[in-house]
Amino acid sequence: MDAMRDPENLNAVIRQHAEWLAAQLHAQRESLFPPDASKAMRTFTSGEAAALLGVNDSYLRKLHLEGRGPVPATTPGNRRAYSVHDINELRQLLEKTARKPGDYLPGRRDGDRLQVIGVMNFKGGSGKTTTAAHLAQRLALKGYRVLGIDLDPQASYTALHGVQPELDLPDGGTLYDAIRYDSPCPIADVIRPTYIPGLDLIPGNLELMEFEHETPRALAENQAGLFFFRIRDAIAQVEDNYDVVVLDCPPQLGFLTMSALSAATGVLVTIHPEMLDVMSMSQFLRMTADLMDVIADSGADMSHDWMRYLLTRVEPTDAPQNRITAFLRTMYGDKVLNAPMLKSTAISDAGLTKQTLYEVERGAFTRTTYDRAIESLNAVNDEIAALIQKTWGRT
Ligand SMILES: Nc1ncnc2c1ncn2[C@@H]1O[C@H](COP(=O)(O)OP(=O)(O)OP(=O)(O)O)[C@@H](O)[C@H]1O
Ligand SMILES: [Mg+2]
Repeated sequence: MDAMRDPENLNAVIRQHAEWLAAQLHAQRESLFPPDASKAMRTFTSGEAAALLGVNDSYLRKLHLEGRGPVPATTPGNRRAYSVHDINELRQLLEKTARKPGDYLPGRRDGDRLQVIGVMNFKGGSGKTTTAAHLAQRLALKGYRVLGIDLDPQASYTALHGVQPELDLPDGGTLYDAIRYDSPCPIADVIRPTYIPGLDLIPGNLELMEFEHETPRALAENQAGLFFFRIRDAIAQVEDNYDVVVLDCPPQLGFLTMSALSAATGVLVTIHPEMLDVMSMSQFLRMTADLMDVIADSGADMSHDWMRYLLTRVEPTDAPQNRITAFLRTMYGDKVLNAPMLKSTAISDAGLTKQTLYEVERGAFTRTTYDRAIESLNAVNDEIAALIQKTWGRT
């Protein structure tokens, strides 16, 4: 008999299916990444390194020939291969002879406030995690000190950064530990470095759900205090160590997202320009505004430095999408980022092996496919970096 038709068995069936799936995923991971292998960041060609540093390829070559700066590894084809560490060392070197201070070091200076960017929308699959991961990595590669925090119990952001939410976090280790109501730990205890210098991670897993369950209880018992500031206050403990914090929010407007909204200095709402997505967005915006009113009524400062919409998985040849995009741009004007994140098989394929496009080599894809996708991602991320710089009073 079909077990699914027998309600008494559903529990067992689901459990069995979960076990099978976990075993399969585990096996797949073992074959992709041997047990002792951890993720490593690739090296960059001299052209890529020059672009990240904002100098000409020929100038980088000149530095190399003069023996200034780090000595990069060479490929079998005798090309220079720069590690992120090499690039950071070069950045320090270039800064020493820069025309004006900060030309090569984009991070905070005295008086600049930490930027906390919340990537949100309660619509599932609108590209939040893809956006957050590429933004965090791009900023780190550009020389910002970045902390990425996974607020989604489904933990895709975490998995993209080489941490298995079910396997690698058996005894906690998510942000929940630092924002829980009973004996929270220092946030520093849940921060871990990643394989990308300049990028740290607070992973997520199902334990984050506890915050959604405990907050109503704490509120009922009058123990919650200003619950929506728990993330902000936790981040404040390590504020001096970072320039930018990126929050990958779950696809719901729960207490975690509310707290992220209260911690954020900049809000990025990802929109897939399809009719159904845009319809649910109007609900999302109304509910968000209502929630922010409630929080503001308690006397909290709910002002943000900026908020922008980012169009995601955009297909320029799709006529209905174009109509929705035009409609959104007319309605919301410059609140919609100029650069859209184009839909690309390079991005989804990289995701299948738990990588961002910044981690894969150009040679892994058809050149035009790769170039089109990376140009789109860079344009999006650099537009956001420009907003950050503007907040700090620079152009
Ligand atoms: N620009 C893109 N081109 C191709 N595929 C994309 C692109 N952006 C996202 N995707 C794919 O779409 C799916 C959903 O994206 P993503 O996980 O970033 O959305 P999300 O909003 O974080 O989802 P959730 O609400 O479940 O957290 C993923 O499989 C991802 O690889
Ligand atoms: Mg996500």
